[in-house]
Amino acid sequence: MLIRLQKLIAGSGLASRRKAEEMIAAGHVTVNGRVVRELGTRVDPERDHVKVNGRHLQAAQPYAYLILNKPRNVMSTLDDPGGRPTVKQLLPGVSVRVFPVGRLDFDSEGLMLLTNHGDLAQALLHPRNHVPKTYLIKVKGVLTDEEIKPLERGVKLEDGVTSPATVKKVRKAAQNSWLEITIHEGRKHQVKRMLESVGHPVLKLMRVRFGPLTLGDLAPGEYRYLTDREANALRELVRDRAARGVRLEASKPKTSSRSSRLTPHPSRVSTRRSAC
Ligand code: URA
Repeated sequence: MLIRLQKLIAGSGLASRRKAEEMIAAGHVTVNGRVVRELGTRVDPERDHVKVNGRHLQAAQPYAYLILNKPRNVMSTLDDPGGRPTVKQLLPGVSVRVFPVGRLDFDSEGLMLLTNHGDLAQALLHPRNHVPKTYLIKVKGVLTDEEIKPLERGVKLEDGVTSPATVKKVRKAAQNSWLEITIHEGRKHQVKRMLESVGHPVLKLMRVRFGPLTLGDLAPGEYRYLTDREANALRELVRDRAARGVRLEASKPKTSSRSSRLTPHPSRVSTRRSAC
């Protein structure tokens, strides 16, 4: 069976799909001894010899899903050219190579999902899927209802109008206040820019929910593997949304064959490669 080169590389756990594309474009990948830079290239994993940086791809690793409570002043990437601490250093004992799903700012904290399931990660981050992300934020000053309304409707930022958000007041003090805001996009510094636009800079930001996942009482710097229920909920979320997208585009009812592929998932790792 032919599959796209970047999918094969991502499926081996070596890199995320995006990183795999970068490696292909940069000429680090050979197929049967020839450098391939075409992202659309299809290969047969049974017959073709694929090497990345001169080394054969290893067999696909089992899937692993975990959440980490990223502390402030830690990069949400696996490495940092500037030498700052990264989330990688917070994953002792995780032998499977996992990648962060999305980013949090250096000075933000809270829930980060990490996995080696490239397709799932890509689907969770795809703007079309509108996966909700909830942040607990401390802002300068106290927002009036009139200032909250534009955030809920959508505010104009330099990269376009934001989609509707949900904002709840949590607590207020004399100089500042706490809010909970749920957005369905993942633009760079989005929450900070939204609050800045209504004149209330963010002083602290913590992600407390990502789709069906909640941070709970996981301490800063700690991680845990997802439960079966959580991993299944993630897969169902993207499956449902993809199916809804298909229905909207093609005006067709959802087919039942996809849901019949949903299999229970061991909590830590799974050797199954279910499509999502
Ligand atoms: N929005 C931000 O502004 N920063 C983050 O880290 C996450 C969301």
